[in-house]
Amino acid sequence: MSRIHHRPKLALDIATQLLSPGILDQGLRSGLFLSGPRRTGKTTFLRHDLTPALKNAGAFVIYVDLWSDTSAEPSKLIRAALCSALEGLQGTRGNLQGRAAGLTFDFQISDLGTPTGATIAQAATEIVDQAKTDLVFIVDEVQHMHTSDAGLALTYAFKAARDAVNARPQTPGHFIFIGAGSHRAQVMGMTVQGRSAFEGATSADFPTLGEDYVQSVLETLLSEGTNVIPSLSVTCESFVRLGCRPEELRRALRTLQQFQPQEADQYLPVIATTLMEAAADIEITKVEEIGVLACAVFERIALAEEDAKGLFSASALSAYSGAVGRAVSADQVQSTAQLLQDRNIIVRKGYGRYAITDPFIRQTWCNRVAVLAPTFHHKQS
Ligand SMILES: Nc1ncnc2c1ncn2[C@@H]1O[C@H](COP(=O)(O)OP(=O)(O)OP(=O)(O)O)[C@@H](O)[C@H]1O
Ligand SMILES: [Mg+2]
Repeated sequence: MSRIHHRPKLALDIATQLLSPGILDQGLRSGLFLSGPRRTGKTTFLRHDLTPALKNAGAFVIYVDLWSDTSAEPSKLIRAALCSALEGLQGTRGNLQGRAAGLTFDFQISDLGTPTGATIAQAATEIVDQAKTDLVFIVDEVQHMHTSDAGLALTYAFKAARDAVNARPQTPGHFIFIGAGSHRAQVMGMTVQGRSAFEGATSADFPTLGEDYVQSVLETLLSEGTNVIPSLSVTCESFVRLGCRPEELRRALRTLQQFQPQEADQYLPVIATTLMEAAADIEITKVEEIGVLACAVFERIALAEEDAKGLFSASALSAYSGAVGRAVSADQVQSTAQLLQDRNIIVRKGYGRYAITDPFIRQTWCNRVAVLAPTFHHKQS
């Protein structure tokens, strides 16, 4: 694994907002959901920056990655993480931030979550009351909780735990839930949809790596005696073009080594564009494979200047019908839009508002439309 570029200030800021929210940030107590594109460093940040920052601030942190074992039922992974944390806190050999925890639970840990055993709310209350601290539960790739009935039931168990702990006026600590994931549509959906247990929780974009990361990469190249090193500004611009993905930047910098040192700034943007267009092509093929109606719906969303509205309006239906060459019903558009959401291609941002999940794919599509039919590239209502 490459060297980690740590972001202690960002981690401290988030930890402080979560553990000691100001009056305007109280919503964070209902949960924080971070979503961001794949391979942008979410897991690295959660594990190596945010978890240590929360622990330093005195919180007890439980982390579980629902992608750590894709064959396992998400609820089993969560239960296993909770049971192992409870076992770790038990007795005088238990460890709580470097000191003996010495907690005793008046329930069988192995029965947790079973019909006759303790509930997550009970377990959370006991941890907070005995340890007299905040309990933070981090679930990575959280959208997988919605893939099974057991996982869905767990979201309600977490809500119950949050309410049981946090609603008490004299609570010695709070229960804080953090969810993160790459499936932007589903992660955001966990807080906006009316049927979600976490409705009202805060949803935010994962803060991607920036200039200081790029600078550290260039410094490493220099210290390793690498020949072809581009300037900071061009590398930053290319990093953004690469969707702020560290692995893609490394790949582009490796490819750059076949050029002359003085050509670095000229060729890095070209390499970055080529890499990303190849990646965008794969995503665009997924839309084309769904069918012509999917392409028409995708295009309507892509060409909207902000969030697309009126996807099912009469004028939209008639535009789709024109593009597809047959009459199109609102039901057909609804199920196509659902397919595009399921495949993480579009995201529903609120009632009747949609956007393309990955801005780069939107841009690539728009560029192609502009080349093929310049007059069609207009703002849609
Ligand atoms: N802060 C960082 N410093 C250096 N490399 C990083 C950093 N963050 C991420 N990376 C690298 O980027 C790649 C993706 O990181 P990571 O797995 O954390 O991303 P992710 O967003 O969780 O990805 P996924 O969508 O697959 O879950 C890894 O190779 C990792 O080493
Ligand atoms: Mg990850």
